[in-house]
Amino acid sequence: MYVCICHGVTDTQIESAIDNGAETMKQLTKELNVGSQCGKCCQCAKRVLNKKLMQIAEAQPQVA
Ligand code: FES
Repeated sequence: MYVCICHGVTDTQIESAIDNGAETMKQLTKELNVGSQCGKCCQCAKRVLNKKLMQIAEAQPQVA
């Protein structure tokens, strides 16, 4: 699914940038240009970011 139409960025590209270490919108913008033109994709990109970070956090072993 395309998240950023201005730069042709998909949710898959955002997720792989997060897998490669991006944790903030600022980092995603730097790597993929998401949100750097019209800004309409920012909310959707943030949702993809938060969902992916939650998945990563949930996959971590729990510290008792
Ligand atoms: S849709 Fe992403 S900057 Fe315009």
